[in-house]
Amino acid sequence: MNNFTYSIPTKIHFGKDQISHLNELKESGDKVLLVYGGGSIKKSGIYDNAMEILKSADITVYELSGVEPNPKIESVRAGVSTCKENEIDMVLAIGGGSTIDCAKVVAAGACSEEDPWELVLHPDRIKKALPIYSVLTLAATGSEMDEFAVISDLSKNEKWGTASELLKPTMSIMDPQYTYTVSPKQTSAGTADIISHTFENYFTNVKGADVQARFAEGLLKNCFKYGPIALKEPDNYDARANLMWTSSMAINGLIKDGAEVAWCVHPMEHELSAFYDITHGEGLAILTPVWMDFALSDKTAGKFAEYGRNVWNIVGEDDMVVAKEAIAKTREFFAQMNLPKTLAEVGINEEYFDKMAEKAANGCAGSFVELTKEDIIEIYKAAL
Ligand code: NZQ
Ligand code: ZN
Repeated sequence: MNNFTYSIPTKIHFGKDQISHLNELKESGDKVLLVYGGGSIKKSGIYDNAMEILKSADITVYELSGVEPNPKIESVRAGVSTCKENEIDMVLAIGGGSTIDCAKVVAAGACSEEDPWELVLHPDRIKKALPIYSVLTLAATGSEMDEFAVISDLSKNEKWGTASELLKPTMSIMDPQYTYTVSPKQTSAGTADIISHTFENYFTNVKGADVQARFAEGLLKNCFKYGPIALKEPDNYDARANLMWTSSMAINGLIKDGAEVAWCVHPMEHELSAFYDITHGEGLAILTPVWMDFALSDKTAGKFAEYGRNVWNIVGEDDMVVAKEAIAKTREFFAQMNLPKTLAEVGINEEYFDKMAEKAANGCAGSFVELTKEDIIEIYKAAL
């Protein structure tokens, strides 16, 4: 196991009706920028509820609405301007990962003279950020408890993640009831995203990080158990609660610290979103089993077999046989969640494979199985 420093400063209020804790924003000032997406929070009533609590706490609310799935740099810039013009004290995101990510870079941009795109490209230039608060409405990215934010500039077909300790939210409210209205498509995509975050950490070359591995297996089991239940019964509290808490644990350092490895399926997927603006979790569900097929070899069979035995309870002596069965189970699970199986299904053809693979190859350097640009093109082709 590697050395590490584990630090999560985010206070979490988890469970039913925790939104009342929004009055804690008062600790950071009296002017907030409320960041939200295309309107789901108005339909569900969370917006009215939040406004009422903020009003009672004497907090003045400015708004940035219409944040897109795969949030765009233009939205970030608009939020930064509002913060600077009005000397805003803090940001509050209410929504899914896109909204929270946008709010994070707004919070950093508000404290910087640079264009926020520079802060996306150069995380080391994030020197200060306004306090960030979130109310999570979709279990997927873990942005509510991590240091990452992923922003797109579609005019350049670029989608990049930035990261800073300063982007970890001060406080997040996680009420699983808010996810009852998440569509089947986003429920499945969110579950695939949580699974992928877990795999990206689990498939590591660091030896002896057993605590991290056993936690990861538990998180995977949770997704495989509760994903289908949430699809069938959208208002099953325990299913939504377990998925929600798993989403945070998969990416908040718990299973990464001490077992660090470069991610590889995410960089490959981010290129798909950058060129085609597809749903992140769907791209991951398409690529993951294909990457597994590619990554499986005599050298890696032991790790895939460990996954098969500990997560799927596959019995067998031969690592390669167990590994293949585990990959088949993974593929079947994504199909059971009605996730797309091929790039063609989400409107992607070979046109940009060369460009996408070139960019993704940089992001993948140092991953569980090293991938060259040519390897990535092969994976994209196999996913067609
Ligand atoms: O915009 P609204 O109207 O709110 O609707 C959203 C959006 O259309 C809707 N939604 C959210 N909560 C809902 C709801 N609909 C009904 N009821 C609710 N309770 O769902 C749609 C998708 O929302 P979005 O925020 O885009 O989804 P997600 O949370 O999956 O975020 C995806 C983004 O996060 C990035 C992805 O690349 C993508 O840009 N990621 C961020 C990470 C991070 N910060 O750590 C890591 C991830 O790997 C990922 O890259
Ligand atoms: Zn992800």
